[in-house]
Amino acid sequence: MRSRTLALLSLASLLAFQSPMFLAAAPQSGAAAGRSRQLFDFDWRFKAGDQAGADAQAFDDGAWDKIDLPHDYMIEGKGQNIPVPGGRAGGGRATNLPTEPEGPFDPRSPGGNSNGYLNGGFGWYRKTFTLPETSRTRRTFIEFEGVYMNAEVWINGQRLGNRPYGYSTFEFDLTPHLKYGKETNTIAVKVNVQQPSTRWYSGAGIYRHVWLTQTAPLHVVHWGTIVRTPSITNARASVEVLTTVRNDGETPGDARVQTSIVDKGGRTVGVAEGRPDVVSGMSSTVTATIPVDRPHRWSIDDPYLYTVVTRVYQRNSLVDEIRTPFGIRTVEFVAEKGLMLNGVHVPMKGVCLHHDLGALGAAAYDRGIERQLQIMKTMGVNAIRTSHNPPAPALLDFADRMGFVVMDEVFDEWKQNKTRFGYGQFFDEWSERDTRDFVRRDRNHPSIVMWSIGNEIPEQGNVQAGEAMATRLAGFVTDEDPTRPITAGMNNPARALDTGFAKPLQLFGVNYNLGIYERVKTFKSYASETSSNYSSRDEYNLVLKDGQLTIQNQLNNHCTSYDTDFPRWGNTADTQFQAMRKAPWMGGEFVWTGLDYIGEPTPFSWPNRSSSFGIADLAGFPKDRFYLYQSQWRSEPMVHILPHWNWPDEYRGKMIPVWAYTNADSVELFLNGKSLGSRNWNGVNELHLAWQVPYEPGTLRAVATKGGKVVAEKMVETTTAATRIELAPDRNAINADGQDLSFVTVRLVDAKGRLVRADGNHPLRFTLSGGGAIVGVDNGDPTNHEPFKGPTPDRASQKAFHGLALVVIKGGRTAGTLTLTAAADGLTSATTQIRVR
Ligand code: GAL
Repeated sequence: MRSRTLALLSLASLLAFQSPMFLAAAPQSGAAAGRSRQLFDFDWRFKAGDQAGADAQAFDDGAWDKIDLPHDYMIEGKGQNIPVPGGRAGGGRATNLPTEPEGPFDPRSPGGNSNGYLNGGFGWYRKTFTLPETSRTRRTFIEFEGVYMNAEVWINGQRLGNRPYGYSTFEFDLTPHLKYGKETNTIAVKVNVQQPSTRWYSGAGIYRHVWLTQTAPLHVVHWGTIVRTPSITNARASVEVLTTVRNDGETPGDARVQTSIVDKGGRTVGVAEGRPDVVSGMSSTVTATIPVDRPHRWSIDDPYLYTVVTRVYQRNSLVDEIRTPFGIRTVEFVAEKGLMLNGVHVPMKGVCLHHDLGALGAAAYDRGIERQLQIMKTMGVNAIRTSHNPPAPALLDFADRMGFVVMDEVFDEWKQNKTRFGYGQFFDEWSERDTRDFVRRDRNHPSIVMWSIGNEIPEQGNVQAGEAMATRLAGFVTDEDPTRPITAGMNNPARALDTGFAKPLQLFGVNYNLGIYERVKTFKSYASETSSNYSSRDEYNLVLKDGQLTIQNQLNNHCTSYDTDFPRWGNTADTQFQAMRKAPWMGGEFVWTGLDYIGEPTPFSWPNRSSSFGIADLAGFPKDRFYLYQSQWRSEPMVHILPHWNWPDEYRGKMIPVWAYTNADSVELFLNGKSLGSRNWNGVNELHLAWQVPYEPGTLRAVATKGGKVVAEKMVETTTAATRIELAPDRNAINADGQDLSFVTVRLVDAKGRLVRADGNHPLRFTLSGGGAIVGVDNGDPTNHEPFKGPTPDRASQKAFHGLALVVIKGGRTAGTLTLTAAADGLTSATTQIRVR
């Protein structure tokens, strides 16, 4: 590869020969066509289990399932239980395990509780397609954003290669093996999910998008643009764009690269040109340095994006065009302070997120990802940690557009395994490739402010290998992106300092270990993982004992929603906030976790199949803790009270702890109109205001005031029995793109329309007409064993949990109207319509 610097041309001279914005997708006579990028998610065939001979093109897959991507066969219950050789099933500490699966949940699954008792095993995918004769002169590539795991790929019976790590994005060049015209091509993908390979739910299959890209022989390579902003002032930013062009044609390139910067309104604000020297079969990199006057900064509150438009010309015809969104912002971490974004101190109010989307499993629907981020935004989150693996690209696109900073993380383990089939087995052969590709794919995202080379890596404690391994991986990251600091989430920070493991890190990430905050005071440090509070939505565990009500941390496999319970390595959310206040040098925190995820049902085991760590539950419904974070992280006035107000008769007159989360100065509580007194923060050490309220049914109302003025109110009421169902889609109109989703909240309400939280656990039946599919049902209960999917796309069932359930609807690829009906014995049913357009 050779590198050249582009001469900066005046804007006026370049605008004169600006080509149309649209890429030259149609073939030009005799010449190569431009770039096209096609979503390759539709019309695949799938078969669970290993299939002898399915790599051959002639193999008959006519009886296989017809599916569209993204797809997760683990969540569908189509995995197989393949016992660990010589080992026991990873069933955790559960006793009295049933011998037979309940729904898709298999108590003997080798992934055990870590994987949510769902099986992996083998799966095969095939897709047959044709290409026009005109494609003959083009290059054709297939990109998989992620296949879990051990993907092996064939085209027309030719093996293209494999990719063990299930979170890496990879591409193959199909060109040498393709057929054109009437002849068909077949892609075959074999997946082998060995279990256990992760400490959380992995999913199984081609769970992210697939793209088919065609280019001219002369083209920008995969991840071939790098956008950097080496200097930024309010008057001017200097944008540096490196573009790598490859010439797969037989003649010399005679190439010209035009790099334009376009603002949000579509206005070109800078252009430069260069001539890469690309002889046949070679690549070459050109660098453009383009000034942008009075740059509009990217920030959390104003995530402004520019776009680099890269056009490649060959003998003056446009042969390639790609667009790279980017942001202009400065990111600096300062010792004893934390993140400075555009020179402004921004404490990170972060959450760790695993990649699953609840009932959708690992299937990475863009809308599912966006919804999770929207829920986090409402809570006041400004930072996301992609624990503990490279995320779906869509997550980073949304973070760029919605305004989050991101800790992008690559591994949960290096060579020393945490699980029997974890990454350790691939580390020697693949860690360089996976690390470099992770940075190459993601480095243009303005949201990313740090690279994490690992979470709780066991080699932290290894004097011989820890420092050397960390230095090696950090080196790959710096090679690919010298502009961002490197970090790791360390659960053994003291040891990591002693062994030298932390030496190559520029940012010190502390998981838990509040006791070390003092020692890392002079470092650039932050809390990479915190709290691990656990709870179930609306489960308060208020138990009558010796005539008194007490909060029991754990009861019937649920942890209390007063949020007093946490594992031995963690602490409550409340304690964490106090610790952060005392250690303002810690640059912020990433709470474990923003949302519940499948697997890791700590502190329980079977029947629990999903976590309780989430601030929102698996269906995305906020738990009480959500409002604690809101009270600390958002400034819009709010007040929230707990618990609900439906208690058994024998609780009458007994004292119930009532808590309020608020960002106001004081809260007055009223029971059935009678004041129970105001509380303010004077002398209060905790982050809630509290009353002991003698229970009597009725209305509990909290009135919050600030500076003497009422700023917020919240009411909980004793409800009567549920009488009807209500359906509330988050969106009444979705796109007819075959992937857009509507998340429908199902509410059980009483005669007065009040949500029945205490006992609204009725079994519900859902039917969908007009096309589309029900792709997931859930209720947020971590012990629930009903399937996340219905038997057919138009039917599903699910119990409500404390009055709520969720139905996820996917639209088809044609316009129309979908009708969802929810019914339950003894309740008035409900219907809602979703337009697909
Ligand atoms: C951490 C770990 C996370 C999760 C969490 C549960 O130590 O990094 O992946 O397991 O504990 O509290």
